[in-house]
Amino acid sequence: MKRETWQTKIGLIFAAAGNAIGLGNLLRFPSKVALYGGGAFMIPYFVALFLLGIPLMLIEWVIGRYAGAKGHGSMTGIIGSFFNHSYGSRVIGSIGVSIPVLIVCYYIYIESWTLGFAFLSLLGQMPEPVQSPDYKTAMEPYVSFFKDYTKPSLTAIVFLVITLAINWVILQRGIVKGIELTAKYGLPLLILMGIFLGFVSLSMNGWKGVEGLLFIYTPDFSKLSDPQVWLEASGQIFFTLSLGMGAIATYASYVKKNEDVVKAGLWTAGLNEFVEVVIGASIAIPAAFAVFGALAVPELAKEGTFRIGFMTMPAILMSLPFGSLLSTVWFFLLFIAALTSSLALTQPLVALLEDEMRWSHSKAVNVSMLLVSAGAFLSAFVPGFIDDVDFWAGTLMLLFFGLLEIIIFVWVFGVNNFHKELNTNSFIRISKALVYFFAVVSPVFLVILLYFWGVTKLPQVLSQTEPGVLVARAFVIFVLVLIAFFSVESRRRYLAGPHM
Ligand code: ALA
Repeated sequence: MKRETWQTKIGLIFAAAGNAIGLGNLLRFPSKVALYGGGAFMIPYFVALFLLGIPLMLIEWVIGRYAGAKGHGSMTGIIGSFFNHSYGSRVIGSIGVSIPVLIVCYYIYIESWTLGFAFLSLLGQMPEPVQSPDYKTAMEPYVSFFKDYTKPSLTAIVFLVITLAINWVILQRGIVKGIELTAKYGLPLLILMGIFLGFVSLSMNGWKGVEGLLFIYTPDFSKLSDPQVWLEASGQIFFTLSLGMGAIATYASYVKKNEDVVKAGLWTAGLNEFVEVVIGASIAIPAAFAVFGALAVPELAKEGTFRIGFMTMPAILMSLPFGSLLSTVWFFLLFIAALTSSLALTQPLVALLEDEMRWSHSKAVNVSMLLVSAGAFLSAFVPGFIDDVDFWAGTLMLLFFGLLEIIIFVWVFGVNNFHKELNTNSFIRISKALVYFFAVVSPVFLVILLYFWGVTKLPQVLSQTEPGVLVARAFVIFVLVLIAFFSVESRRRYLAGPHM
């Protein structure tokens, strides 16, 4: 069976950008910026972008193309191919398939809220706005509404099923007719809606929203010595660029052999950053600044990632003329961003089952989506599940796996080999000295970050033992073991016959 390749260059770029651009850009980023002090967050953020984000983005693209040419699109096959497909290497690679699968389990549930809220806004079912300069009073109806919806309500479950079905159908249609087609329409629409809402937010209350943008972009050196800000900023770079998840490498494995992956990688990072630090920065925070004032913003963020997106934004938008329509655009924007990412987060498992287990595409998608659906329902019904899985898979494992990627794909592969592969068909020549620089600096940076995770966050998270948290951990272990099993089992099949 021949592996698919992206049909057009623009389709490839849009799909890859859609992979990266997601809820991370429009929900997670504004919350983190608000919580960690605007300009104080942005310095570590840009340092992490250049020291970790861009190098890892290029590594995943280069290695994805390299392994894709040999028929491997999942981290199991990719890492395996560097170690003669030893059992150990395939098990280590399997972690890079478990990470995106674990993330998508809760991600897709949040995605379903965005679809649900978009429809409820369109149908005029959102609560009536309360006009008040006090954010607590103004948001009150939306806080109750959100709580009732995510209990979960029957409506939430219906939209979860619809969201799962949409992802299922698109993945069944495959790389070109499914993912590429969705991205070709989705990404331009997303950017248009984002620019429109950015304009609406910045112009609120006589362009008072601009103050919010200044809050983000006025450098503040006071918090640079706080490791927590560095951890959060670096974690955001990983999450937003979909790095350390194997998801970029999987998409890169479907390029044509002569594709310029340096260009593709830079486009992916560039478009993602445009939608994060230009569009993402211009919507939620400026709107909250304009309507509720500077003091409210950090307070809003303290109460969780979902507050700004699902409660503050509808409270603000609904109070404007054409409020229901603006709220629909906001939630639909979030939905498109989330959809193109949830497809990318599921595809590594599809690739594992297809490339390594040699299952048919249809069976691979069905089994992948069954697992994702199980995780999504646990996210819906088990309190504490989302936060715990987000900590392990969406934060800690990403950094760990990113470190592993640099070690294996640059050091084990060999700096010379990597450098040659990097420059093959590249529109610019990247010097070997630069590769050496990043091959040393990026891992050191990551080790320091992991150390701080270990001392600051880990004890705090491990001390939580509520039932929901234990269910989440059992699920994380179950997924790790299941995917390790597929990876080991498929080794036999891989060695049994010529690949493809
Ligand atoms: N990179 C994806 C996002 O930002 C996962 O949402």
